[in-house]
Amino acid sequence: MMNREQALALLQKYNKEPFHIRHALTVEQVMRWYAKDQGFEDEQDFWGLVGLLHDIGKWKEYTAGIDHAAFGSRLAREILPRAFFNQVESDIICQAIYEHRNINRDMSFLGERLHRADNLSRFCQECDCRDTCPKVAHKESSVSSFEY
Ligand SMILES: [Fe+2]
Repeated sequence: MMNREQALALLQKYNKEPFHIRHALTVEQVMRWYAKDQGFEDEQDFWGLVGLLHDIGKWKEYTAGIDHAAFGSRLAREILPRAFFNQVESDIICQAIYEHRNINRDMSFLGERLHRADNLSRFCQECDCRDTCPKVAHKESSVSSFEY
């Protein structure tokens, strides 16, 4: 499996905005906590990597208006097998990335946890990038953890 430094380097290869990196690091930590909370303590590293990589396609949404969850999932499918994930791990990650943006009843187990971790990790009201954030401009900001 890919290690944390490799995953962070991969994220930073595609995403240059400090906010995105900071958000990814926060989701990583929430996912590590979540794994433990859900009884998967021995999978904390894997859950953390999913959190770290979940917005790997984000830059494409801002530069080309393409949905970052769908694009990120396709990108991850292309690059992750080459980056030391086995096929099962790669499938689980790509599915979770694809699903993380919206919650619905048919989501994968990890996709739902990732969605919730993402919401818990966004404190838009306190963010110093608020004035320039496209999510705020598109009224997509999360204002509380009630969505958790
Ligand atoms: Fe996202």
